[in-house]
Amino acid sequence: MNYIGSKYSLLDFIDTTIKNIVGESLSGLTFCDIFAGTGIVGRHFKTKVRKVISNDWEYYSYTLNRNYIGNHIDITDKDSYIKRLNQLNGIENGFIYTQYCLGGGNERQYFSDENGKKIDAIRVQIEEWKNNGQITEDLYYFLLCSLIESADKYANTASVYGAFLKNLKKSAQKPLVIKPAYFQLNNNEHEVYNEDANELIKKIKGDILYLDPPYNSRQYGANYHLLNTIAEYQPFTPKGKTGLREYRKSKFCSKVSVKTSFEELIRNAKFKYIVLSYNNEGIMPLDTIGDIMSKYGNYQVFQQKYQRFQADKLENRNYLTNYTTEYLHVLTK
Ligand SMILES: C[S@@+](CC[C@H](N)C(=O)[O-])C[C@H]1O[C@@H](n2cnc3c(N)ncnc32)[C@H](O)[C@@H]1O
Repeated sequence: MNYIGSKYSLLDFIDTTIKNIVGESLSGLTFCDIFAGTGIVGRHFKTKVRKVISNDWEYYSYTLNRNYIGNHIDITDKDSYIKRLNQLNGIENGFIYTQYCLGGGNERQYFSDENGKKIDAIRVQIEEWKNNGQITEDLYYFLLCSLIESADKYANTASVYGAFLKNLKKSAQKPLVIKPAYFQLNNNEHEVYNEDANELIKKIKGDILYLDPPYNSRQYGANYHLLNTIAEYQPFTPKGKTGLREYRKSKFCSKVSVKTSFEELIRNAKFKYIVLSYNNEGIMPLDTIGDIMSKYGNYQVFQQKYQRFQADKLENRNYLTNYTTEYLHVLTK
């Protein structure tokens, strides 16, 4: 998924740094990805460690992680369910079509009419299978994750859901096809949560805590509101032109509260190694991070240049832009 702050391109840097500090073999360790987003970091470590604890307080993210991290034993007939979902006809009275597609009459165009109707039909069917006991929880989240990731590919936005485009872009005109969100198999049980990181930290313990909080004022709940709406699929009254829902505001997105919340997290963490990703444009200055982390043990910092993608709203595409510096701040407690 094209996600703000995704660490997909930084996995090597994270992996190498962690192994430098902890040692090459991670197989007996518990790794926690407490701001998991797409789950790509937890997925990288899933087969390398004994246990992954994954968490994000956005429900769409929970569904991705519940599938990619939580699922670890094969589900034999999963592809046949994807096939049945892809064969469904769209419905006209669903929430996505009526609220977020032009034909629905609310002047929003996040999806083409056909794709909106199809998303509704698929979402309703997944819930029906769950309610009549036809599918397990593992299969439920596999299907939901497949729907969310696939739907995102057909969204009529420049990149996030803060606004939709006036005209349907090429990828949004294509008919929606659900692709299976395959997860890695392994013998270990993992834990997946949907909580505020500052609350969860009081209840868990482990070896490596990876922190990737938001680093600027952009709230994920606002930027990905439509993914939460598809995932939760509970009716509400969408607000204004963009159809926003109520969303949680993270303390890590505010200059006023970030330092206190960050220090609270570090103080309460029952983990030997704490690794924080942050870049040089974050709202928390780098020396503040160093000052806070140094209070609790041995602190080191590593850095790497990173070329990032940016959405061009006029051209309607992503392009590679200037370099930023990504830091990994490491605390050995
Ligand atoms: C920078 S993103 C993580 C990206 C992730 N590492 C990846 O590669 O996809 C930050 C994440 O923190 C989550 N978040 C923000 N505040 C939170 C909080 N208080 N508790 C838990 N999750 C939070 C957001 O929903 C978002 O997914």
